[in-house]
Amino acid sequence: MKLNRSILFLLAVGWCGIVNAESTWDQASAEPVVATEITVHRSPSCGCCGIWLDHLKKQGFVVNDIKTQDVNLVKQQYGVGAGLASCHTALVEGYVIEGHVPAADIRKMLAEKPNIVGLSVPGMPHGTPGMEMSGRKQPFSVISFDKNGNQEKYTEYLFY
Ligand code: CU
Ligand code: CU
Repeated sequence: MKLNRSILFLLAVGWCGIVNAESTWDQASAEPVVATEITVHRSPSCGCCGIWLDHLKKQGFVVNDIKTQDVNLVKQQYGVGAGLASCHTALVEGYVIEGHVPAADIRKMLAEKPNIVGLSVPGMPHGTPGMEMSGRKQPFSVISFDKNGNQEKYTEYLFY
């Protein structure tokens, strides 16, 4: 009985360790990671923004973290429409990244160089990088948008 209990305890500790260790988004990418500079505008009180930044850093981005009280002004400035808005707005190699976009999509965009303004994950869906604290996972899409207001589905995450 005593032995069983300690085994259960160890299993529980081990399991928590696995759950807490890494986000599912932070597994090393198969491709060699290239250091890419990205500038992020966010509110100083935004916790999920900070976790998204950690995700980017783990994926080889060099983050220039700019804290501002007026994130909406930044969104206006870079053509992020109301339907596309999320918490933070980032700039990388001339593209705009709005919200909790996975690093893999940013890398894909930088490799493909599409003729768009940038990518967005509107709102803050549960389960996106930086939004995993609830343990819930909502299906979500990464949206590409251009300067004429056209929007397209760039990547769809249904099961991951
Ligand atoms: Cu957020
Ligand atoms: Cu954010």
